[in-house]
Amino acid sequence: MSFVPAMQSVPPGVATLNDYAEHARRALDAPAWAYLDGGAADEITRRDNEQAWQQLRLLPRVLRPMAGGHTRVQLLGRTLEHPLLVAPMAFQKLAHPEGELAVACAAAAQQAGLVASTQASIDLESIAKAFADEPGRGPLWFQLYAQDTRDATLELVRRAEAAGYEALVLTVDAPVHGARDGERRTGFRLPPGVRAVNLPPARVPQGANLFERLANAPTWDEVEWLAANTRLPLLLKGVVHPEDARQGIAAGAAGIIVSNHGGRTLDTMPATARLLPAIVREVAGQVPVLVDGGIRRGTDVLKAMALGADAVLVGRPILWALASAGAVGVAHVLRLLRDELEIAMALCGCPTLAEAAQVLAPENQTR
Ligand code: FNR
Ligand code: LAC
Repeated sequence: MSFVPAMQSVPPGVATLNDYAEHARRALDAPAWAYLDGGAADEITRRDNEQAWQQLRLLPRVLRPMAGGHTRVQLLGRTLEHPLLVAPMAFQKLAHPEGELAVACAAAAQQAGLVASTQASIDLESIAKAFADEPGRGPLWFQLYAQDTRDATLELVRRAEAAGYEALVLTVDAPVHGARDGERRTGFRLPPGVRAVNLPPARVPQGANLFERLANAPTWDEVEWLAANTRLPLLLKGVVHPEDARQGIAAGAAGIIVSNHGGRTLDTMPATARLLPAIVREVAGQVPVLVDGGIRRGTDVLKAMALGADAVLVGRPILWALASAGAVGVAHVLRLLRDELEIAMALCGCPTLAEAAQVLAPENQTR
């Protein structure tokens, strides 16, 4: 038996993902909240992400047969019970002492996929163990930040392969930390006992200015090299330009994750709901396309699938729930989202997600 999380209870009066945000804000100190919930700069992209899903309109069909309906999807050769994955998020011990382990248990119990972060505050082997024991669990992926040297990157890759991770997610949109005003205002620092334990202790970056320090930042060569040096499928996370999606596939990527990092990197990027259609068109079924950013409702998930996503990742709501109620909260959030998705499908007359394209109202003009 691996890790057993504490049995906390769901806070009274919580019925939606957003309800957890307020609980979490009260449960955390200001710097931790600034890091875990914040976006970059004026948080325009962060807000746009949520609003763009909200602004899409659904047009249901009535009296359709729903027998045999389900939320299953196919992804990289596997059948998933539903299209929800937990997005990679660093330092989850900031939200709860059980951190990534609580999230892994909850995600496994809810048959969701899990993407563990390079910057996890718990070792990647223990996270895999907490997740992998559950029969019926979703996919287990490892998010990779390219390290200073290829050897250091490869060391992480080999550890992830050995621990049972089934895919690598190379995050390409964060060569530097975004302008996080909230973190600077609150003086955010990692507290003692929370650090990126999968990496060697942080070295002082070399170079006098930002561009000198970026001299070793990964380029397309790294993608090709990585794809050729792992037996795992490689997904690129943080692709927003159709040309980059095309180049990524040419370089060996087995999947594209359309993401603006939840509005935490470059502010004023477009919302992912608006970026998704052009990338789906460009990729045209060659590899799966996933999306994240601002997914808060079952209707958001259905809309993402309608726009051609193969699955979606959920970020902050997982951390809000983790801070509020540990593993129980995280499981609750995933269940709520799945329940809302099922209700939305039923009310749209859409028995399977393969038929999701029909649910969007013509007024959306997404193409
Ligand atoms: C992130 N995200 C992120 N992405 C990544 O590739 N590696 C990482 O280590 C992290 N770390 C991280 C920490 C925190 C606190 C947050 C909130 C986010 C980005 C994440 O994977 C995802 O793209 C967004 O969070 C999705 O948007 P929503 O659902 O939070 O709106
Ligand atoms: C963040 C980095 C860790 O979003 O990806 O905070």
